[in-house]
Amino acid sequence: MRLVILGGGGFRVPLVHRALVAAGWVDELVLHDVAADRLARIRDVLVGGPRVTATTDLDEALRGADFVFSAIRVGGLAGRAADEGIAHAHGVLGQETAGAGGVAYGLRTVPVARDIARRIARLAPEAWTVNFTNPAGLVTEAMAEHLGPRVIGICDSPVGLCRRVAHALGLDADDDVTFDYSGLNHLGWLQGVHRDGEDLLPRLLADPEALGSFEEGRLFGVEWLQALGAIPNEYLHYYYDTREALGDDRGAFLLRQQQRFYDGEADWESTRLEREATYMKQERDSLDGGGYEHVALRLMHAIAFDTRETLILNVRNGSTLSCVDADAVVEVPCEVDGGGARPIAGRPLPDHAAGLVMSVKAVERLVLAGTRAAALKAFALHPLVDSVSTARSLLDAYVARHPELAYLS
Ligand code: G6P
Ligand code: MN
Repeated sequence: MRLVILGGGGFRVPLVHRALVAAGWVDELVLHDVAADRLARIRDVLVGGPRVTATTDLDEALRGADFVFSAIRVGGLAGRAADEGIAHAHGVLGQETAGAGGVAYGLRTVPVARDIARRIARLAPEAWTVNFTNPAGLVTEAMAEHLGPRVIGICDSPVGLCRRVAHALGLDADDDVTFDYSGLNHLGWLQGVHRDGEDLLPRLLADPEALGSFEEGRLFGVEWLQALGAIPNEYLHYYYDTREALGDDRGAFLLRQQQRFYDGEADWESTRLEREATYMKQERDSLDGGGYEHVALRLMHAIAFDTRETLILNVRNGSTLSCVDADAVVEVPCEVDGGGARPIAGRPLPDHAAGLVMSVKAVERLVLAGTRAAALKAFALHPLVDSVSTARSLLDAYVARHPELAYLS
């Protein structure tokens, strides 16, 4: 089994490698990156497990792939820091995936993701692609233009949310429960936790102590969760607490922090722990991360060995959510087996959530359109950008800063 990781010099690749070592059924790992020095630094951290090769030649990496993990960061962390910093300088929310920062990052990433998808379709048409690259929903939708259902987007935030809720409900790992979670990537809501025909979520919502015991309860506050009647994804923080979240400069922090690792001045493990401890400025319930590598491995295993799994993934909507069209990539529970991932419909979203999903999907479509006029509309119509003239100035500032946005000038 040949697994290719694009963005193989990325900081979190050792987490994937560690999961591969534990799983034991991948015998060949190919790391691709555009930066040879980062590739070499990460290669040094990997011990044991599958045979590892590293290359900067994309086509060579892709040939013969069974699975491709796409985990690239166009423009690097310096690009992310600029996305966030330029938004802050304009007085609007800047975040890797939400608000103006997410629009800028999407505009930069989509052309590269499309090129990769085209190459995969040509060189490894049988391969399954798992997209980790943020903004994950929008990038998966771009890749699906060429790969259809053979690209699946993943994020660990829904599974982390479900795990914390199950724990707060006192459920065991072997309890047979289904989680009614739906929306877009980083824009979803948990509306039900079903066991034996009973929805257990109302019980949790009625228990302030249990609600306050986990990350989402602390982040959103007990009263707000009760008012919503659902548990939102942690990234809804940027929508519900926009003022408080303004000025969050995580990109700049991570850039400084990870530079020390790539320069050989800090070791990988302590750098990872510091990153996780500071995630969303929250005290995490545990320091073993959200576990996106485990989601990826479970997905890959279910496809490769045709075993049935239910996982929350980013796939084309079909008729799952009534507020968006069939080709829109949404984040919903899916039934996965050797044939891929099929979305499962749950309870319809309430109007306030459906409204946000429709607005943000419209912005994503404008990002995908790839013209300057559409890019301006994407900034202006984003629910977290509050003025058309600010949108115009944001677009100019991003185009001036990022060489990858030359296609918009
Ligand atoms: C969560 C999100 C990912 C994000 C990761 C790291 O797992 O779901 O999309 O990449 O956190 O976030 P950070 O701010 O540390 O880069
Ligand atoms: Mn994510």
